[in-house]
Amino acid sequence: MKTQRIAAILDSEAVDTDVVVKGWVRTKRGNKNVAFIALNDGSCMRNIQVVVDLHKISEETLKPVTTGACLRVDGRLVRSVGAGQGVEVQAERIEIYGTADPESYPLQKKGHSLEFLRDIAYLRPRTNTFGAVLRIRHAMAYAIHEYFNRNGFYYFHTPIITASDCEGAGAMFQVTTLDVANPPRDEQGKVDYTKDFFGRACNLTVSGQLEGELGALALGRIYTFGPTFRAENSNTPRHASEFWMIEPEAAFYELEDNMELAEDFLKYLIRYALENCREDLEFMNKMWDPGLFERLEFVVKNDFKRLDYTEGIEILKASGEKFEFPCDWGCDLQSEHERYLVEKHFKCPVILINYPKEIKAFYMKQNDDGKTVRGMDVLFPGIGEIIGGSEREADYGKLRARVEELGMSERELWWYLDTRRWGSAPHSGFGLGFDRLLMFVTGLTNIRDVQPFPRTPQHADF
Ligand code: 4AD
Ligand code: MG
Repeated sequence: MKTQRIAAILDSEAVDTDVVVKGWVRTKRGNKNVAFIALNDGSCMRNIQVVVDLHKISEETLKPVTTGACLRVDGRLVRSVGAGQGVEVQAERIEIYGTADPESYPLQKKGHSLEFLRDIAYLRPRTNTFGAVLRIRHAMAYAIHEYFNRNGFYYFHTPIITASDCEGAGAMFQVTTLDVANPPRDEQGKVDYTKDFFGRACNLTVSGQLEGELGALALGRIYTFGPTFRAENSNTPRHASEFWMIEPEAAFYELEDNMELAEDFLKYLIRYALENCREDLEFMNKMWDPGLFERLEFVVKNDFKRLDYTEGIEILKASGEKFEFPCDWGCDLQSEHERYLVEKHFKCPVILINYPKEIKAFYMKQNDDGKTVRGMDVLFPGIGEIIGGSEREADYGKLRARVEELGMSERELWWYLDTRRWGSAPHSGFGLGFDRLLMFVTGLTNIRDVQPFPRTPQHADF
């Protein structure tokens, strides 16, 4: 007989039929006559209750059925008389696929701390919390594709291995096949990358944007959705060395259109979670963040506040708050500043625009004031920056001048500059940090707890 997922069986309530369920034991309890096994197969938060008549199946057979063991149960689905579940399985036969020695299996008692679970990240998908987080993660990825597909954006695959540094921050992981202990050297004694695998120095991408722009200037609207890598040594709850980013890029979009897209997109995703991940969100709300539903619903229902960077600075300076970092005009905003604006001042998501050009990347469209650029950051409660984007500099002369001014290599960026030589167009885009979105949607406060296998400085286990 075909195995059915537990979620489907619980929802169907097809009582008085034979069923086969396969899953992992969460708990076992009972007495001399009957045992109750809570079985979970990852298809949903709920377990199915397996009732074992010990006159039919011996206690000896059940001995290795301990927390974490994997079973196949053949039985009959019946209406449950006990509280807490509509249906249960009366076991006819139990096959043990894999035992889990209670002496060594780490996930015994309920209620492990998130810190403890990080150390055993390879096992934590078996917990309720990570089951919920990983199902929500999947649902968000699906909703992202759905949103763009409905709105005429094409999924565009930008390279993971690249020779460019989109953000110009130099925080890149090198990709090389050279012998690092003994690399070939040129006449000046420098490492000779012409002998490297690609004939040049390469790195893992920090962003797919530059290549994404080429897509937008041909297909009109594209988005990327893939892993990005940053070798910055920032040990914060919001930074990971490997994270996933969604980067839409659209021709003929100005900054206004870009802001509208960002707001509509975020609201769509959060609404999708509220409508499709109810059970998992209820668990997160109960276990980790009692304000979760309220916050999610608030973001869906209310307009984001749009504000100039300059006004933001004025508000911060007038606030009387003691910040750890300075917030004078020209400073890059720290998370504490962003969160003050969002959580204390406006009490809603904020889109901050028109930043000083010095603190933003080379590709942003320059304003006529000569000081600011048409960048935008979307700031969220509890998170700070969730999106970073801009209208792009479409003018060849201005872009080239900026590249030169910043001492960037025109030789490396020639292909990007060429897009402004032939058929340039106004265009805009942004990057949404997928893992930061997950933090917001699950209510968890550490990025390490929303990624299946987090990579952070000094941590690349599993
Ligand atoms: O602001 P960032 O650096 O922007 C870019 O990379 C642009 N090229 C995007 C674009 O315009 N197409 O990064 C975008 C977002 C941030 O707002 C944040 O949500 C996330 O990516 N992010 C990180 N998430 C986790 N760990 C890190 N180290 C992150 N760095 C950025
Ligand atoms: Mg940014």
